[in-house]
Amino acid sequence: MSERTLVMVKPDAVRGGHVGDVVGRFEAAGLTIRALKMIHLDRQEAEEFYRVHRGKPFFSGLTQFMSSGPIVAIVLEAPGAITQVRRLMGATDPAKAEPGTIRKDFASSIEQNAVHGSDSPESAAYEIPYFFGALEQHAYERAAR
Ligand code: CDP
Ligand code: MG
Repeated sequence: MSERTLVMVKPDAVRGGHVGDVVGRFEAAGLTIRALKMIHLDRQEAEEFYRVHRGKPFFSGLTQFMSSGPIVAIVLEAPGAITQVRRLMGATDPAKAEPGTIRKDFASSIEQNAVHGSDSPESAAYEIPYFFGALEQHAYERAAR
């Protein structure tokens, strides 16, 4: 069954000029882009998005970073999209990420790690409508490669 996930190209990767590289990896892996936009979260909006991490030692730095510049929010769809995207992203800490993953190639630290991907269907169900309404999400068939 097809599944949707929320991805963000984080401010470090936007500033680094890696939007196309990151989006290209997901497209090349066969995921369908259902929605995509650039947005600059304010501190409160970043805190609300990451509310499950409130109280953790990295919460303040993370939300400062995530509101430091624009991000690109994307909805991707495929069977098993959540797991597939997490695999393409690599480990949270780029030093521990597998070769060939997005974080290995583009991230500079455990905080500034280039990309976000929903970690579960429950997270995706909160995160997708945080950025996109129904009219901003588009269903279409990808051409065979
Ligand atoms: O993004 P991911 O699901 O891999 O990791 P997380 O544990 O859900 O943490 C969310 C984000 O917080 C990470 O992607 C990092 O940007 C940041 N973080 C951090 O700055 N320091 C940590 N020790 C853990 C996470
Ligand atoms: Mg997470």
